[in-house]
Amino acid sequence: MPEEAALHQEPPVAGYPVSVTVNGKPRSLLVDGAARLLGVLRDELGLTGAKAGCAVGVCGACTVLVDGAPTSSCLTFAAQVDGAEVVTVEGLAAHPGLRALQEDFLAEGGFQCGYCTSGQLVTAASLVLSGELFGLSDADIRERMLGNLCRCGAYYGIVRAIEKAREAG
Ligand code: FES
Ligand code: FES
Repeated sequence: MPEEAALHQEPPVAGYPVSVTVNGKPRSLLVDGAARLLGVLRDELGLTGAKAGCAVGVCGACTVLVDGAPTSSCLTFAAQVDGAEVVTVEGLAAHPGLRALQEDFLAEGGFQCGYCTSGQLVTAASLVLSGELFGLSDADIRERMLGNLCRCGAYYGIVRAIEKAREAG
């Protein structure tokens, strides 16, 4: 009878299935439709490198790579990354070509409190990984980094570190 059949129906799925590769590892997740990528990375996957700053896509503290493109994870719905490859700051160490970039941030003092640093590194890493960095002028580098704000004003060291990575080729 219909009422009895209704009692035996499976409950509705409480979320969207998402298959995503994060830092090289395949992940299968069930996410709320309103969940943002930043929250899923931090709260469900324990990847706390990306930071919540403005939460409205302005500061760049939450930047991760989605299919190689720097992306504000605070604005990105987790369901949007189904089938994508996501790289967070924790995943940069797996790329040998990015070690020098991170060392240059240390050597040049490209940070003070460090809150913006993961986002700065991820955006800079996208320039290295795409090969774009090696054709950029100093002014181009500053322009590409405009989406990453630093409240401590460590911009000189940040830009100098990226220039060093470019010079190292
Ligand atoms: S926290 Fe995402 S851009 Fe500021
Ligand atoms: S180092 Fe503090 S916000 Fe950039």
